[in-house]
Amino acid sequence: MAEVGKSPLVSRHSKGLKGQVRVPGDKSISHRALMLGALTVGETTIDGLLEAEDVLATAAAMRALGAEVSRDDDGRWHVHGVGVGGFSTPSAPLDFGNAGTGVRLCMGLIATTPIRAVLTGDASLCKRPMGRVVVPLEQMGARFVASEGGRLPATITGAERGIPIAYTLPVASAQVKSAILLAALNTPGETTVIEAVPTRDHTERMLQAFGADITTVPEGGGRRITVRGHTEFNPQPIVVPADPSSAAFPLVAALITEGSHIILENVMLNPTRTGLIETLVEMGGDIVIRNERLAGGEPVGDIEVRHSRLKGVRVPAERAASMIDEYPILSIAAACAEGRTEMIGLDELKVKESDRLAAIVAGLSANGVPHEVGENWLMVEGAGPAGRPRGGGVVETHMDHRIAMAFLTLGLASREPVTVDDGRMIATSFPSFMPLMQGLGADISSA
Ligand code: S3P
Repeated sequence: MAEVGKSPLVSRHSKGLKGQVRVPGDKSISHRALMLGALTVGETTIDGLLEAEDVLATAAAMRALGAEVSRDDDGRWHVHGVGVGGFSTPSAPLDFGNAGTGVRLCMGLIATTPIRAVLTGDASLCKRPMGRVVVPLEQMGARFVASEGGRLPATITGAERGIPIAYTLPVASAQVKSAILLAALNTPGETTVIEAVPTRDHTERMLQAFGADITTVPEGGGRRITVRGHTEFNPQPIVVPADPSSAAFPLVAALITEGSHIILENVMLNPTRTGLIETLVEMGGDIVIRNERLAGGEPVGDIEVRHSRLKGVRVPAERAASMIDEYPILSIAAACAEGRTEMIGLDELKVKESDRLAAIVAGLSANGVPHEVGENWLMVEGAGPAGRPRGGGVVETHMDHRIAMAFLTLGLASREPVTVDDGRMIATSFPSFMPLMQGLGADISSA
């Protein structure tokens, strides 16, 4: 019987997924659109905003800081911002729910504005490390009082006057980079962030589009990004393309289920986000990108996918940043492939919405998928030419939306149904996951 409050889901062997669908808007861009809108004077309009719990928490936080945020009947969002340095002290704690991006970027927004705010989130977010953002933001003049281990809830007091810094990221994290770049906007002089590996660059692209003074130059294999603070920039209309990290689930579902042929429309194809597609093509996936174009400063295209016989590959560590959210679903593709898939350089996987390395391993074990795991690597032994792992397990999702969606995808190809203990967190990023997958022909339902 289901534990009280949980919502278990089950997926069963399916064939012939068919259809042309559009997954919801990109989560990273949606958070940033609301935040930059809140930071500029005038109106920012946002079309295609991801209306999921994570992003709605950011919208509520921007309102609490003083911006006007509304949605009209056509689904277009309007943000009337307060200008750089214009936020006011919120009257209640800002609750970011499950969203690491929301809370960490918001710390950057507040760090150089002289207000005080209490930041909190759900049980999963309160376990995640915040020190990676706190360290550079303290150097910029912010003060933090955090819970044990530098966790949430935390109180942040922004600096009267921001201090520009040059900071080399100790971990490949777009959230840390973005928090610093946002704090730099209300800081005199130049703030520089150096990253050894390029991470998603949506903040840079959006700041550029708004006319902020930002430059990016390649350095080594990575990038040096510089923002000059206290300069004028203005809102622009934003169109949010479909989220490649959500498209990943129907994409892999079509690859691993016989007779499938689907098209995923208008998917963002920013090269800092396409590591999964690159890997699946190397595995022999029949994936064709059509109609490539630029939309709102981001490359987008339609992805046509057909069922394919996948083979195992070695995924290089350098690719991890461009597919960091996709390892759960890659593990499922690997389980249905012929041969071994090796994934290395997975340290960051352990500090996501759950310890994803541990959650993937537990899910694979429960479903009879042979694998080996180390401190920061995973090897999955595929099911062979038939591509049908055993399945039959119950997977603990640990409040992690991507673990839930990945293992439900496994059930579509496995010999026995796969159950996930709780599907509620899917609403944090992909509220229409169930109807969209069912519409393609996937047999997923309440357990
Ligand atoms: C995100 C960055 C990544 C990613 C997260 C979204 C962002 O986190 O996992 O889902 O929007 O900046 P890290 O910066 O911690 O790698």
